[in-house]
Amino acid sequence: MDPRLLVISKRMEGVKAVVPAMSPKGGVGKTLIASSLALAFAERGRKVGLLDLDVTNASSHIVLGADLNESKPLEEKGVVPPLINGVKFMTICYYSGGNPLPLRGGDVDEAIKEVLATVIWSQLDLLLIDTPPGISDEVLDVVNYISEPRPLIVTTPSKLSIASIEKLLRVLSENGVKALGVVENMVVSEESAIKDLAGKYGVELIGRIPYDPFIEKSIGDVRILKSTSFFSKVSSLADKVLVKLGL
Ligand SMILES: Nc1ncnc2c1ncn2[C@@H]1O[C@H](COP(=O)(O)OP(=O)(O)O)[C@@H](O)[C@H]1O
Ligand SMILES: [Mg+2]
Repeated sequence: MDPRLLVISKRMEGVKAVVPAMSPKGGVGKTLIASSLALAFAERGRKVGLLDLDVTNASSHIVLGADLNESKPLEEKGVVPPLINGVKFMTICYYSGGNPLPLRGGDVDEAIKEVLATVIWSQLDLLLIDTPPGISDEVLDVVNYISEPRPLIVTTPSKLSIASIEKLLRVLSENGVKALGVVENMVVSEESAIKDLAGKYGVELIGRIPYDPFIEKSIGDVRILKSTSFFSKVSSLADKVLVKLGL
């Protein structure tokens, strides 16, 4: 067995709940929701971390408003993540400097094991993980290396997104992982397109976030982001997540 797996469980000892945002499709809002949720938990005085595991296309630092040149992780028998807008934040971009990282399968797995074994989160109420699209190495690694992750599944009302969610729900259930819930994002109608499918897999629809045409302008400025209707919906979702996790 890889000794890092033992180190990973030690690193996670002080973390009460690990919530990866997942969806097989890209562009559904995982990054925006995971980063905004982290900000909402911090606003509520919770100890929260955000780990960007979208190795080839990390972008949560943009939403979180992290200046990668100004904030840096501290090396101290591991890596201590900097605090950005109240969130302990870690991204591969601190090391890649925003350059592309064309990693192949085995290398991705290695990079993720290394990150999980290296970052010192200390005590956290919640650790949010931004994952890449797909049911890829990153997603399976989170499921395999972290004990009892509670994925937040993100979808749009699109049939294409929903079809992909069914596959993810099956994979999670086959791996004995209990999803925290499904969030329907960029909603434009009253009726939920995902409710029945979520029900079939015994997963609760815990949030519906409308399409917000003003969101794009707010990305990169946390103060403006927090004033959007998108963020107020995410804040209600944050409250619901805390209740569901018993935190
Ligand atoms: N509720 C929303 N209303 C409007 N635009 C949104 C909403 N949620 C996400 N977006 C936009 O959709 C795009 C994809 O979001 P992103 O978080 O990068 O998705 P993912 O991480 O799943 O690929 C971004 O341009 C983001 O600003
Ligand atoms: Mg993303």
